[in-house]
Amino acid sequence: RSIVILISGRGSNMEAIVRAAQAERWPARIAAVISNRADASGLEFAASHGIATAVVANRDYPTRDQFDAALREQIDAFAPDLVVLAGFMRILTAPFVNHYQGRMLNIHPSLLPSFPGLATHRQALAAGVKLHGATVHFVTPDLDHGPIVAQAAVPVLEEDSEETLAERVLEQEHVIYPRAVRWFVQGRLALDGARVRLAAEA
Ligand code: GRF
Repeated sequence: RSIVILISGRGSNMEAIVRAAQAERWPARIAAVISNRADASGLEFAASHGIATAVVANRDYPTRDQFDAALREQIDAFAPDLVVLAGFMRILTAPFVNHYQGRMLNIHPSLLPSFPGLATHRQALAAGVKLHGATVHFVTPDLDHGPIVAQAAVPVLEEDSEETLAERVLEQEHVIYPRAVRWFVQGRLALDGARVRLAAEA
């Protein structure tokens, strides 16, 4: 099986997935890492691990439809079984999302359905919640509302800033995202209509 990972920046979730794939000898290869920004620092890590990289810069396309068409073409050139959004900061159009139905995952830094959208750690602090976390979900056209695959919770501490909270959540992202991707490449995780199916380990 093959995986294409989309990033926009640092790519620490991508890195966690690449490392887990190697360390755990997944029955899958990371076919490519694609960024919508040429300056995404994660591209260097991917290249240094012998992974093909590509940039499809949203700036180069006048409309969202044109960008999504170009991105789709680039992704499909690698014929992936799974597309992994890892800190990919572009909203994708419904036709694009539907093309990858049941084979595109995202990680969102909150316990969905709480705090969709941006600045999730600021939202959590403002709401005064005592638990926060991260969610892996299948991507559907409804932004940050796809069927939930995995979640991890962390405490919110009195003295937390956005940064300290983000750091605590990120540590958990690096645990649950590689695990969910592994389930998928092992053929254990699937989307069945609106339901997530997860089979026990063989
Ligand atoms: C992560 O917190 C991810 O959940 C969010 O953006 C951050 C990306 O981090 N959408 P990285 O690029 O994976 O390091």
